[in-house]
Amino acid sequence: MPNLAVIPGDGIGPEVVAEALKVLDAVEHAFRPGIRIERFPYGADHYLATGVTLPAEQMRRLGTDFDAILVGALGDPRVPRNEHARDILLGMRFQLDLYVNERPARLFDERLTPLKGKRVDDIDLVIFRENTEGLYVSVGGTFKEGTADEITIAEELNTRRGVERIVRYAFEWARAHEKRHVTMADKANAIPAHALWRRVFEQVGSEYAEVQRETRYVDAMAMDLVRTPEQFQVIVTGNLFGDILSDLASILVGGLGLAPSANRHPGRVAMFEPVHGSAPPLAGKDVANPMAAILSLGMMLDTLGHGSAAATIERATRSAIEEGMTTPDLGGNKGTRAVGDWIAERVRRV
Ligand SMILES: NC(=O)c1ccc[n+]([C@@H]2O[C@H](COP(=O)([O-])OP(=O)(O)OC[C@H]3O[C@@H](n4cnc5c(N)ncnc54)[C@H](O)[C@@H]3O)[C@@H](O)[C@H]2O)c1
Repeated sequence: MPNLAVIPGDGIGPEVVAEALKVLDAVEHAFRPGIRIERFPYGADHYLATGVTLPAEQMRRLGTDFDAILVGALGDPRVPRNEHARDILLGMRFQLDLYVNERPARLFDERLTPLKGKRVDDIDLVIFRENTEGLYVSVGGTFKEGTADEITIAEELNTRRGVERIVRYAFEWARAHEKRHVTMADKANAIPAHALWRRVFEQVGSEYAEVQRETRYVDAMAMDLVRTPEQFQVIVTGNLFGDILSDLASILVGGLGLAPSANRHPGRVAMFEPVHGSAPPLAGKDVANPMAAILSLGMMLDTLGHGSAAATIERATRSAIEEGMTTPDLGGNKGTRAVGDWIAERVRRV
């Protein structure tokens, strides 16, 4: 029986996770995957009450005792510099070495894109963001903080091994999903260290003769994602650029409320979470869109070998959009719970 760890987290995290778990309950009814759930309390409230972010022993258990982790969101204005979120979220990515951050962006309904004249088939891409290196490694520091002479340095870390494994993952994924085109985004014209990405992309890509490869500077790529999203199928890039491009891609298909993601390392526990954050102003108001969390659950089920349950969740979500069963961010007037109930009911009736 698969073991699932659930970390609802902060802000709207617990609300959207509650809806995802409602849908999982419906999946249990319809498909019987027999998933055992264990909830973890880690987040801002727990940190403020106990000073504990995510204990080392529990981090170890997440890596050894579970098949999947479902996370809501982490981030709370009461916590200085969001240190708990860094510890928990980046802690899981780094310590469990989940080097692949997979962020798909698919247009479910033409009405959801802000782009003029784009059809459903025009936007169907996936971003593979390197998840364990880059500018997120906290190498650097601040000197003379708060003075006129303040100096702050953040180093960008790129290792041959780290670049190669994410680039290879993107090409393998393209091959397995019959995609013919992989694009890499970097800034090699201004950041000489990015030549490493170009060399590795060329070397690894040459092993996949059936897949075309193309390199882009990230600034031009951002522009073209808006102008001609149909030219992109699979994008591979570093940690920071992937973070930014995936928010941009999400708005092309309806926004953060619809953007799911997976954090992976083949053969190890995988972590699934909506791309969005804890959206503090929306918390507790029953207005947050639960679809990103529900679609993240779908990615999890697919990973655990329950592809038909995942496909059913996606179909139910598409139907909810078609029938206007949506929260205000997608133009509807339904609440978080009503959308979750509707999708769960659809799944249950399969
Ligand atoms: N993976 C994560 O846990 C994660 C990701 C990003 C930000 N954060 C944290 O979340 C907090 C808020 O950050 P932010 O405001 O930059 O990003 P955010 O994703 O929380 O919100 C950005 C915008 O999108 C909207 N939005 C987000 N999720 C939505 C949903 N499900 N339904 C409807 N609208 C939604 C918000 O209202 C806001 O306008 C910060 O503490 C930040 O550090 C966490």
